[in-house]
Amino acid sequence: MISIGIEGTAHTIGVGIVKKKGQKCKVLSNLIKIYRPEKGGIHPREAANHHANHVADLIKESAEEAGVSFDELDIVSFSQGPGLGPCLRTAATAARALSLSTKKPLMGVNHCVAHIEIGRGTIDNCKDPVLLYTSGANTQVIGFAEGKYRVFGETLDIGIGNCLDKFGREVGLEFPCGPKIEKLALDGKKYLDLPYTIKGMDIAFSGLLTAAIQYFKSGESLEDICYSIQETTFAALTEVTERAMAHIEKKEVLLGGGVASNMRLRDMVKTMAEERGASFFVPNRSVCIDNGAMIAWLGALMYESGVRMKVENSIIDQRFRTDMVDVTWRE
Ligand code: ATP
Ligand code: FE2
Repeated sequence: MISIGIEGTAHTIGVGIVKKKGQKCKVLSNLIKIYRPEKGGIHPREAANHHANHVADLIKESAEEAGVSFDELDIVSFSQGPGLGPCLRTAATAARALSLSTKKPLMGVNHCVAHIEIGRGTIDNCKDPVLLYTSGANTQVIGFAEGKYRVFGETLDIGIGNCLDKFGREVGLEFPCGPKIEKLALDGKKYLDLPYTIKGMDIAFSGLLTAAIQYFKSGESLEDICYSIQETTFAALTEVTERAMAHIEKKEVLLGGGVASNMRLRDMVKTMAEERGASFFVPNRSVCIDNGAMIAWLGALMYESGVRMKVENSIIDQRFRTDMVDVTWRE
């Protein structure tokens, strides 16, 4: 079965086409365009306008690159939530239009669940992982238990990516700041004490962000601060992930989201996995960041398992929670 997916939860508008063969996902095309605010953070309406300007071309180009005609599509999937209202509505409107004009069924999917399923679909031996999902807006530790993907721990305030981006903006780095902070951290030598906030299984970053900015204002070296931010936040993320793995007895860990590109984060989680005798997986970067292929893939899984969605029921949900989804496609 062939599925096209339209992603539009935040900065990225993406269109991807995948082919489902058994439980394996073949990505035929996966194009993205990222909205970059000139100054400051993301402005939802501007991001949505950006997405509206690009989505039609991306759909066309994605089909061309995949070598697939609209007739050959089996379903049209889109990111139904969670995310920014105007962005979600733009992606959903494009998906509805494509679905109605091609007469192919429509499927709204949960963005966070898509991050985990694309790992299972594209990586050999990745069968039942705990997902550490670290992106701009989202930071969650997710695992499958009793018919649902459950959130075992998450941020209580901002996502880890936002934390990095906000710090970077404060000290004059260009967006996205995560990669720049990673580079600077390599030259950090001194560990500066930062708040390490874990409450139960949840994490908070805003106290650390304030303290890090304070260090910068008081003249500490940027390299040392970046190093300390990474060591502290990534240790907290790894700790919560390990506790989730122990609690639900999983032998695999999967990274997802843009921050998963970070080599230091990968290192820490990999070491933790090795020490537990567990496997460690990171998807290809193109399917790890926000993208249309993961949306297409989850739509295909849902459709094949019997889920159907009427256009009337395809309304977006900004607060669509991971554990609201009935996982009908796996045991
Ligand atoms: P969402 O939260 O809806 O998934 P998003 O667009 O913010 O949306 P991604 O595209 O998955 O999410 O990730 C973007 C984030 O990843 C940014 O905050 C960016 O700074 C961060 N990032 C990218 N590369 C790195 C890196 N090498 N190290 C740390 N952070 C990184
Ligand atoms: Fe994401």
